[in-house]
Amino acid sequence: MNWKLAYTVGFHPWEDTDPPFKAKLSELLDREEKGRAIPYGAALDLGTGSGIWGIELAKRGWEVTGIDIVDTALRRARDRVQKAGVQMRLVRGDVTALRAAGIGSGFRLVLDTGTFHDLSSAQQAAIGREVSAVATSDATVLLLVWPKRRRPLIRGVDRSGVESAFPEWKVTDVAPSHFRLPKILELVLKPDEHWYRLRRE
Ligand SMILES: C[S@@+](CC[C@H](N)C(=O)[O-])C[C@H]1O[C@@H](n2cnc3c(N)ncnc32)[C@H](O)[C@@H]1O
Repeated sequence: MNWKLAYTVGFHPWEDTDPPFKAKLSELLDREEKGRAIPYGAALDLGTGSGIWGIELAKRGWEVTGIDIVDTALRRARDRVQKAGVQMRLVRGDVTALRAAGIGSGFRLVLDTGTFHDLSSAQQAAIGREVSAVATSDATVLLLVWPKRRRPLIRGVDRSGVESAFPEWKVTDVAPSHFRLPKILELVLKPDEHWYRLRRE
């Protein structure tokens, strides 16, 4: 996917705030927050785009850093953060080189809503390495994944691909995200999107 072009022409159908999708994400986050007090800790939103889900995390009481490589996306995110009246750090950088981007470490939650599954396996392995370096030992990674199949735009990745990119981590749960695209895109792209939850072994 050419993300820069997509944002420039205003094509961002992944910005899904449908109630069923939101409810599922909220259920996953409830689990990570259970028994803890606000602030819940540092959270990293990989490929934050317009910051939609990072802002959601900030509203819930996480100290959020969002990273993205596309300036147009980050501009949209800045506007949204301001309108939402929350604190969220936005960093321009590559998710395959998190340490070089200077985001720091100590992240207890790492969220990825759509970046990991479209990268090459070498880039995915780099994300796994970088996340392992910046996340706490008790961190949770939540990855939104489309299965690998022949389709336009998005590569997708299977469970084995997730596991090889995160060799130090264990997939604890896989669950449907309830993500919906407009009908025609749904038919062409067949997202069949799932949440993967990972913890260190
Ligand atoms: C499907 S969009 C998801 C955006 C946002 N997380 C959301 O759910 O609305 C994927 C995002 O990943 C970003 N991205 C792609 N490759 C990247 C990379 N190597 N480093 C940082 N961001 C990247 C794109 O610019 C885009 O904003």
